[in-house]
Amino acid sequence: MLKSEIHQLANEVFDAVRAFRREMHQHPELFFQEFETQKRVQAYLTKIGIDEVSTCANTGLVALIKGKNPQKKTIALRADIDALPIVEQNNVDYKSQNEGVMHACGHDVHTSSLLGAAQILNQLKDRFEGTIKLVFQPGEERLPGGASIMIKEGVLKNPDVEAMVGQHVMPLIDAGKVGFRSGLYMASADEIYITIHGKGGHAAHPHQNIDPVTIAAQVITSLQQVVSRLAKPSIPSVLSIGKIIGEGATNIIPNKVEMEGTFRTFNEEWRAEAHQHIERITREITASLGGTCDVEVRKGYPYLENHAGKTEAARRAAIEYLGEENVEELEIWPAGEDFAFYSQEVPSCFYRLGIRNEQKNITSMLHTPTFNIDEEALRVGAGLMAYIAVQELNTD
Ligand code: NI
Repeated sequence: MLKSEIHQLANEVFDAVRAFRREMHQHPELFFQEFETQKRVQAYLTKIGIDEVSTCANTGLVALIKGKNPQKKTIALRADIDALPIVEQNNVDYKSQNEGVMHACGHDVHTSSLLGAAQILNQLKDRFEGTIKLVFQPGEERLPGGASIMIKEGVLKNPDVEAMVGQHVMPLIDAGKVGFRSGLYMASADEIYITIHGKGGHAAHPHQNIDPVTIAAQVITSLQQVVSRLAKPSIPSVLSIGKIIGEGATNIIPNKVEMEGTFRTFNEEWRAEAHQHIERITREITASLGGTCDVEVRKGYPYLENHAGKTEAARRAAIEYLGEENVEELEIWPAGEDFAFYSQEVPSCFYRLGIRNEQKNITSMLHTPTFNIDEEALRVGAGLMAYIAVQELNTD
């Protein structure tokens, strides 16, 4: 039976997958600089006999595994390959050797899992129909997002991709388990930059100044109304100002205050409308209090929608492969993720791979200096991805 064969193959490739993960973890590279990583992935593909490989988005790779009747249908499996500017604090013998750069978002796990899945699928080529496109994507962590560049360079064409699957580590889910969510899953993420200009001076004589600090306070509280009063209750939205700098003193009113924040939501029309509200509220409040302002809302990734049919099919495959008790329902997750670009082009499923293990003290969240995984998760990361791919290709 295919399921037990894939379980067995996932165990057979486990040592190689873990070794690759550790090596990649030791040598992390920042967004769009993944030159050594690209070479490592290329070498692994060559070693396991996958030779239709091409470069995409400079430091990315795209590879093909052709089953029987390869023209029938093509699906794509995606892993991101870049790391983050974080100093690793884990005491493991595969700790980052590139000081200040760390795989703190698990992209080493996604990449090694996809290589494991490729190794399994390449041995089962006579057991499925169609073509599998392996997408090793650079620059997930940095705008404009490697996904958008790969799409521009034609990653979804020739052969045309009919469905796309990606996985991401999730520190809230135990290793051995996975999570799915149909429909809206991750948010669009835009950056807000505001500078309020006033007129600084002695804090004892505020009437002679235009105080950008009190204006900024009004702007921050009023911007909350974008979410609480202007957004439809049916569309989740988040607006947070995370940085505010006004360099005055106890007795000095500064000339300006700078603020930065984020706006996240799940609807493109509302997203555009909200940007206008943010700008208008900031301008009008500032003007009414005598100041001037610069407002910029920088567009980030779009929202990520999981295709209902593809996600239900993948969830069914996961239940078959892991058992119902190991498949969880995910909540909406308002972080941004550039897999969203694919999900806007082709029916897609982005699911979560559990990596937590409290007994082993592995509980750190993503983007922290102590993030790590229970490597047992790599068996699922490789095996389930392969099983989902085969099931997707073998059903019409
Ligand atoms: Ni990530």
